[in-house]
Amino acid sequence: MTVQAVLQVSPSASPINNGLDDTYRKDMAEALSDILGSTYKLTVVSHIYHWNVVGPLFKSLHELTEDHYTDLFAATDEIAERIRALDAVAPVKGVSFDSFTPDRDDISDLKAQDMVEDLIAMHEDLVRTMRRAGKLAGVNDDLVTEDMLTARLSFHEKALWMLRAIDSE
Ligand SMILES: [Fe+2]
Repeated sequence: MTVQAVLQVSPSASPINNGLDDTYRKDMAEALSDILGSTYKLTVVSHIYHWNVVGPLFKSLHELTEDHYTDLFAATDEIAERIRALDAVAPVKGVSFDSFTPDRDDISDLKAQDMVEDLIAMHEDLVRTMRRAGKLAGVNDDLVTEDMLTARLSFHEKALWMLRAIDSE
C-alpha cells in the first residue's frame, strides 16, 4: 500500500453549511495544497543547508535555519489541518522525495551566500503565493484561513529580513 493510499480519506458525507461557498472551499484547498508543498520543500531545504553550510556565516546560518525549519515543520501541520477543516483531503499529489530537495544539485560547492539567496527566493515565492491566497480568503469571508495566512506571512517576512541581514554581513 502506498503512502498516498493511506493518506487518501473521503471528505465528509454530510453537507457543509458554514457560510463558505463550496467552490471557494475547493479553490482554497487547492491553493493551500500548493502552499503546503512549498512549505515542506522549504523545511527540507532549510534543514539541508543547516547541515551543509560552511565558512564565516556558519554559526549565523546554522542557527537561523534551525529556527526556520522548526517553525516551518509545525506550519505544515496547521496548513494541512486547515485543508481538512475546509472538507478536502490532505493533499499528497505529486509527492516524491525529489519534490522536497533543493533545485540546485551542487550543494557541496555552494557558498553560504548562495544558500541565503536560494532561501530568500523560496521564502519570497511563498510570500507572493500566500498573499494571493490570503486576499482570496478575505473576499470570501474565510476569516480563519485569512488569519492563518496572515500569521504565516508574518513569519516569512521576518525570516526574509533576517536572511537579508545575514547576507549583508
Ligand atoms: Fe541540527
